[in-house]
Amino acid sequence: MKTSLWHFSLLLLLPLFFACSASQSSSSKQSSPDQNISVSFFLNEAGMPGYKVTYKGETVIDSSFMGFDLKEMPYLGRNMELTGVEQSSLNETWEMPWGEKRNVENRYNQMIVSLKELSEPGRKLNVVFRVYNDGLGFRYEFPEQKGLDEVIILDEDTRFNLTGDHTCWWIPGDWDSYEHLYNETKLSEIDALSKRDDPNLGQTYIPENAVNTPVTMKTAGGLYLSFHEADLTDYAGMTLKVDENNLDLVSELVGSDRLGYKVKRILPFETPWRTIQISETPGDLIESDLIVNLNDPNKLGDISWFKPTKYVGIWWEMHLGISTWDISGTQDAGNVGSEKAATGTRHGATTQNAKRYIDFAAKNNIGGILVEGWNTGWERWTGFEDREGVFDFVTPYPDYNLSEVVKYGREHGVEIVMHHETSAAPRTYEHQLDTAYALMQSLGLHIVKTGYVGKIIPKGEYHHGQYMVNHYQKVIETAAKYQIAVDAHEPIKDTGKRRTWPNAISREGLRGQEFNAWASDGGNPPNHLPTIAFTRMLAGPIDYTPGIFNIKLKPYKEDNQVNTTLAQQLALYVVIYSPIQMVADLPESYAGQPAFQFIRDVGVDWEQSRVLNGEVGDYVTIVRQERGTGNWFLGSITNEEPRSFEARLDFLEPNQKYEATLYKDGPDAHWDKNPTSYEIETLEVDASTVLPLKLAPGGGCAVSILKK
Ligand code: NOJ
Ligand code: CA
Repeated sequence: MKTSLWHFSLLLLLPLFFACSASQSSSSKQSSPDQNISVSFFLNEAGMPGYKVTYKGETVIDSSFMGFDLKEMPYLGRNMELTGVEQSSLNETWEMPWGEKRNVENRYNQMIVSLKELSEPGRKLNVVFRVYNDGLGFRYEFPEQKGLDEVIILDEDTRFNLTGDHTCWWIPGDWDSYEHLYNETKLSEIDALSKRDDPNLGQTYIPENAVNTPVTMKTAGGLYLSFHEADLTDYAGMTLKVDENNLDLVSELVGSDRLGYKVKRILPFETPWRTIQISETPGDLIESDLIVNLNDPNKLGDISWFKPTKYVGIWWEMHLGISTWDISGTQDAGNVGSEKAATGTRHGATTQNAKRYIDFAAKNNIGGILVEGWNTGWERWTGFEDREGVFDFVTPYPDYNLSEVVKYGREHGVEIVMHHETSAAPRTYEHQLDTAYALMQSLGLHIVKTGYVGKIIPKGEYHHGQYMVNHYQKVIETAAKYQIAVDAHEPIKDTGKRRTWPNAISREGLRGQEFNAWASDGGNPPNHLPTIAFTRMLAGPIDYTPGIFNIKLKPYKEDNQVNTTLAQQLALYVVIYSPIQMVADLPESYAGQPAFQFIRDVGVDWEQSRVLNGEVGDYVTIVRQERGTGNWFLGSITNEEPRSFEARLDFLEPNQKYEATLYKDGPDAHWDKNPTSYEIETLEVDASTVLPLKLAPGGGCAVSILKK
């Protein structure tokens, strides 16, 4: 009642405001429901639109301008006047069909400013601001207007004028990959170009000193900021170019060498939201719902055909070089693309091997099995210029009987996770989408993992440009028609579209576990995941593929290893959120390991989640309550520093006893020197318990808290 009255009075006031003074009428303000965050929109003397953001009265984003560089048209963003301001509010709660929590509060105050050029050609542009308690988003609307049917965007100039030389956690603004390690530097020290030509990447292109989003920062005053985008639809992905002298970030859209522009759109249309999350603790960034809230509601309705699940896979064995994707025995992760003499004996995806994994999954409360290398084409996967027409998504190799494996899986309660590696040839994939998904539907399969390794064909396109954004969207929408959920590797970044398309269940889009098997730089260092939790994870679910127990990868990869303790591998099932979680190691690595019980028990779908503590790049502790059972799980991870915490279990239901099982680093555990040392302790706990947690260097702690 209070909100709507206030809203009503503002609407009444605005026209008066305009009538009084020309200079006053060129600005307008909106605040978050709790009044902590305010955004002011203004036009300067040259009629350039700009905005400014404050948090509790302190400037967070100083005056920053916005505009568009358009092909064969004057710049859009000068000599404009404010023709109207509309304010409104929303306060609703929506339900996630699966997720980190069930109920999401979506509460914001909105301001739409309408602009028009004073001089010819008199074009119109609207800017929509939504201010939430956890941050804000703004987007541009190109409304329908006479004489402007289509725009070709050479670049978007959205500026973020920062107020200090903040500490930043960043990856380079690569147009082709997000699979980089995060760097922690001052804003002025960001040097993305030094990350060019990473030999571990199948494709990489870093044209500017820019970063990819989410990029997270800490101000000298201790405030946390994260910049990203929401609802990236029919547009190019946004990187942020660093102006180190002015401490400014400027949007730099991913382009296309083939087309020579960044975005082409017919009017009317809206751009993605440019988002800024603002919080006093880093944990609040993880708990923020800003990105999903800025997407449209569910368009698919009931998707109960998708069940969150753990899955095993004929996968790690290829990354360790034990077996191959192709049938002729050349394509393991050590020598992809080489034309090594065929040995013909190491094909991983055989009917017999798949049954072995299904038996293992069935025994251990694991609902899925991924089989990579099941279909023809892998001989020409990478290392070839012409990858068009190579992969066939319905034809199995002769030693893999697809329907027999599906049937065997069904009899044992294990569903096949289909695999479609496209080798970055999206047209070849699009031609086969319907046939491939119809086959899946006829077999009763509901999850596909896709992959886009290599440089995009057609040449001149990049993984994160408008062309590929539209491809990834087409895959999601087509898959939905066949009741198929998508886990994309080498994807476009997550921008919260799972709210609208809840079959977009998970994705890679980061340096995953696989790098530990073969990267030439020693793999993912112990600070990787404590950084990922506060950066990449703000975008959405991650298919990281945790659960490696054979940490030293012996005898397969003598020069590589996982740089965490075994206990941390368990904690990742809670810390790194995804509705599908791989149990990534070889079945034999789990034999005789009491710690495997945690993986059997841990949930994959959550009623609620809370961050108990954390610091970006250092450590984080998260607890999640499982849907249906009410059981809780805790995961805590640290970088190379050992840590001790006290976890108050006051989130447990009152008057309820639980059995807590702690899977913790042994007293002598160390990510490098002694990674597999762990201890298991069981005790009765309730809401008044304070659990002491001790984490070894590169270690972790996982706790199951099951109702008695
Ligand atoms: C890269 C993916 O990240 C990995 O998981 C997969 O095994 C290979 N591509 C093959 O598709
Ligand atoms: Ca990958």
